[in-house]
Amino acid sequence: MTNPVTDTDRTFLKHFSMVIGFLVLVMFFLIGVALYLYSKNPPPINPAHTEEVEQRIAPVAGVYAGDTGRAALAAAQEAAAKAAASQVAYGGTTDGKTIFGNLCHTCHENAATGAPVISNKAEWAPRLAQGEDTLLKHAIDGFTGKKGVMPARGGNPSLNDAQVKATVEWMMSQVK
Ligand code: HEC
Repeated sequence: MTNPVTDTDRTFLKHFSMVIGFLVLVMFFLIGVALYLYSKNPPPINPAHTEEVEQRIAPVAGVYAGDTGRAALAAAQEAAAKAAASQVAYGGTTDGKTIFGNLCHTCHENAATGAPVISNKAEWAPRLAQGEDTLLKHAIDGFTGKKGVMPARGGNPSLNDAQVKATVEWMMSQVK
């Protein structure tokens, strides 16, 4: 025999379903709030992922065509020509005074380096006595004497023989 449903049970069920109903409403409300916040604040996109996608959709190879290609080629050739020119020291000048003023003067106007200074004729006299060939050889190959080290080509290997010769001759003309 089943127990008869009492008034207390009915009241309980009524209240209980009201509470359940209320909680369901709260749930829908919270879902709504969550969706709203999410739409306002989408999660940040991982930059690594963006990069990956860009790599995947990038063209297989860059294509140079028409004017673009020609311009790029011309620019490259120009840059190469400039680089080649800069291999020739001081624009290839054979003006001894210019080369001296750009390079040799750092030592040959500063007695502290041990180099015979250009204004000191007495210091040069015994050196001049060796003759131009020896001086030139020492300037081209480098030379270690009692006073210090004269670096080969004054330390600039891109100076060619004619340029060193012109500079030595200019120096000799100054200290005679
Ligand atoms: C880093 C310093 C330095 C630079 C740069 C330098 N010289 Fe010298 N040079 C010396 C020194 C030091 C001596 C003296 C060596 C000794 O007699 O002990 C010397 C000596 C000389 C002599 C005399 C060599 C001899 O037989 O007596 C000549 C010529 C000369 N230099 C030419 C040049 C020329 C040309 C340049 C530039 C292209 C140049 N030097 C750049 C340091 C330098």
